[in-house]
Amino acid sequence: GRHGDLAGKHVVITAGGTQEPIDPVRYVGNRSSGKMGYSLAREARDRGAHVILITGSATLPPPYGVELHRVETAIQMRDAVLRFITAADVLIMSAAVADFRPAQVAAQKIKKTGGQSGTQEKSEHGNDGGLTLHMVRNPDILQEVAEVVDKASQHQRLVRVGFAAETENLIAYAQQKLVQKHLDLLVANDVSRSDSGFGSDTNKVFIFHANGSMEDLPVMPKTDVAAAIFQRIVPLLGTT
Ligand code: C5P
Repeated sequence: GRHGDLAGKHVVITAGGTQEPIDPVRYVGNRSSGKMGYSLAREARDRGAHVILITGSATLPPPYGVELHRVETAIQMRDAVLRFITAADVLIMSAAVADFRPAQVAAQKIKKTGGQSGTQEKSEHGNDGGLTLHMVRNPDILQEVAEVVDKASQHQRLVRVGFAAETENLIAYAQQKLVQKHLDLLVANDVSRSDSGFGSDTNKVFIFHANGSMEDLPVMPKTDVAAAIFQRIVPLLGTT
């Protein structure tokens, strides 16, 4: 049975979206609800795992019996992930991590005129009153995890699962990501469908395996998707 099949295992799960500050009152965010990650946390808990849930923005109640760590930015999430994976058997990155962040965070609220950050567009450019934000790349957390884990020979085996939300070329992008990020499994959903992805209670996913195979799962509640994912993780554990 599934109950207890993760007993003694440490599972780190990220959920929700990161928020990248612009000034003290504004941020750049995304539509992630956290539902998939929170479902995964409850499923791992029910299977007996010690669960660390690193959550960005999400409006869900904290799952009972799960160690919750709140973060805002991608950099904070990266730092938390790198800290907690040292003792983990499984890492699931279901968070929607912002690829970019504002290059500078204004110390004061940016005003409509005479702003302190970004480039306030001048009327000579025909863009009166606009604001240009300069964004820089955020670290890719799974890429950094790959570097740390693959280098450290003493690191215990860490099963790594990523997510991909795509609006086009889902299969090609997903297969590419699995290889680039050194993943054991990649769960891909088509966020252009209304029954799948951000905010939805159901998900239609494809699961890609490191051996190149792909599974096409039917539309299911996110709780069932979580169970399906752990059903595939358990056999990967303890195979060193
Ligand atoms: O490259 P893309 O953002 O589509 O990859 C998605 C997967 O990579 C997700 O598992 C996500 O949590 C993770 N990711 C990450 N660091 C980033 C961006 C995404 O670990 N900066």
